[in-house]
Amino acid sequence: MIAAERGRVAEAQTLLERLQKIISEAGLASRRKAEELIRQGRVSVNGVTVTELGTKANPDRDRIVVAGRNVPRAGPRLTVMLHKPVGCVSTLHDPEGRLTVASLLRRSGLKARLYPVGRLDYYSSGLLLMTNDGELANFLMSRASAVPRVYQVKLDSALETAERKRLESGIVLDGRKTEPVRIRPLGALSERKKPWYEITLVEGRYHQVRRMFERRGRQVIKLKRVRLAFLSIERLAPGEWRRLAPLEVKRLKEPHA
Ligand code: URA
Repeated sequence: MIAAERGRVAEAQTLLERLQKIISEAGLASRRKAEELIRQGRVSVNGVTVTELGTKANPDRDRIVVAGRNVPRAGPRLTVMLHKPVGCVSTLHDPEGRLTVASLLRRSGLKARLYPVGRLDYYSSGLLLMTNDGELANFLMSRASAVPRVYQVKLDSALETAERKRLESGIVLDGRKTEPVRIRPLGALSERKKPWYEITLVEGRYHQVRRMFERRGRQVIKLKRVRLAFLSIERLAPGEWRRLAPLEVKRLKEPHA
């Protein structure tokens, strides 16, 4: 084979990816579920049913069908971190016409259609990832990722040490105990009448922080996510965002526990 041909073959091979990876990156199923679908003969490539797990395909060229659904051709992957302001919903559309995170990104000139990874409440602010990388989103939202999320929270009154310890060791929400969390007073701000705390959790259940403090009879007055894994919101003002570097995305896909 001549050198140019060898180069072309090598290039074509680098464009090939395992089917389960393509399916999970498209957000159609987790990798494990995708493997199951392949074994069950529910995946085809260019009209040919595939049952072997090591099979590779080109996500830009091949026609891949999973359980009757076409896998969209892969475009460039993009992940950004946004400083979600208070008064904005973490969705693409809002039937009530409120400001959405998608319109915030659009306004600032970002054309790609990105989806929020998890949610921050309307009245919460802080770090929100937005991505079209289904594999990253699936991983971060899975319990296996155990990605630490750090929040600053202002309460209507101080927590006793015993109450703090009880919350830290886990309480039952929706019939299931929360994973252990860490709560620490936030320096001088913790001495105010309405004190601030920092809480670190490794899961993201519905309104989890607010509901945990409400269990101890506290109202959450302000809630801000300041860190997610190794990412920090520090340099972004509310409404600002930045692209994540490929290395940051790679690091986020590694288990955090
Ligand atoms: N926990 C909450 O209660 N709200 C958020 O927005 C995030 C975590």
